[in-house]
Amino acid sequence: MPKHAVITGVGHYVPEEKLTNADLEKMMDTTDEWIRTRTGIIERRILRNGATSDLAAGAINDLLEKKKMSAEEIDLIIVATVTPDMFFPATACVIQEKIGAKKAWGFDLSAACSGFIFALVTGAQFVSTGAYRKVIVVGADKMSSITDYTDRANCILFGDAGAAVLLEPTEDEKYGVLDYIVHCDGAGGPFLNMTGGGSLNPPTHETVDRKMHYIYQDGKAVFKVAVVGMADVSYEIMKKNNLTGKDVDWLVPHQANKRIIDATAKRMELDSSKVMLNIDRYGNTTAATIPLCLSEYFSNGQLKKGQNLVLSAFGAGYTWGAVLVKWAFDR
Ligand code: UT7
Repeated sequence: MPKHAVITGVGHYVPEEKLTNADLEKMMDTTDEWIRTRTGIIERRILRNGATSDLAAGAINDLLEKKKMSAEEIDLIIVATVTPDMFFPATACVIQEKIGAKKAWGFDLSAACSGFIFALVTGAQFVSTGAYRKVIVVGADKMSSITDYTDRANCILFGDAGAAVLLEPTEDEKYGVLDYIVHCDGAGGPFLNMTGGGSLNPPTHETVDRKMHYIYQDGKAVFKVAVVGMADVSYEIMKKNNLTGKDVDWLVPHQANKRIIDATAKRMELDSSKVMLNIDRYGNTTAATIPLCLSEYFSNGQLKKGQNLVLSAFGAGYTWGAVLVKWAFDR
């Protein structure tokens, strides 16, 4: 009989080093005021030494410690990232070795800022079919490794972090991953991408000179669709489940721009006190933003058993989606 996938653990890891708006003012023609008012960001974290697998392993180890669980109990590791340690082997394999998850298999999943949503939905399938009992879904990105710090419109946005959840089966269908809506629109590809280094444009001196190994974003174009896409899909999942803003305890939005988050909350008729927010301290950490919110709000006691959550994101691809979750445990 199909079971229900429920989140039973959270953990996160952020590097110590901060890159503040004041630091950026010294590096380029920008101001703290511009960055704060246009994006809501004040500082981000930077991983100076190490790779995405270190961010992910740090997050999973935090989760295991809190759960008092051994890495050897993990069945499957799904890694959402656009900054894998390397093309291959998969970052999931590197993480499996780093944390000592001897029994686990795993794979990487690429959906940019929607990566955690896509990975959570995928992980839930493996649990609800009864195939696996302990599935780690981790979102981790070392965005500083693909950020051009001379591109002032974009470099101010991104930071590095990793965060993870544990999915397990439950017989109690009230809790867990209750519903989801996910979308792709490949027509959005030209507006947000990294075109260098892959099979289309293998690395050459020219691809490096043309900065094709950095994030390219037409911010204005992406903003216009993200602000509608994230609000629409968040509203849609509420309506589909006969919920109103009053029934939702938390919006857990991808942290790309505070103005996109505010528009989403407004569409859902949610008070800002019901919106998880940490963009001011971390910026956009791509696949890590949503689980990083979950882990922080759980750790400080604000995220509680029985609460209804709408997780939603919009990102490169374009990709976007929302997941309805009923939270199942207290601190
Ligand atoms: O997570 C995946 C999805 N990504 C997103 O959701 C990001 C979507 N886009 C955005 O968040 C915003 O478009 C940005 C934050 C990237 C840019 O904000 P904007 O309000 O769209 O600014 P803009 O690009 O229209 O630029 C407005 C002005 C320009 O000057 P002019 O042409 O009006 O004279 C820019 O040159 O601001 C200037 N500008 C800056 N000024 C100071 C651009 N970057 C900066 C900067 N500091 N860092």
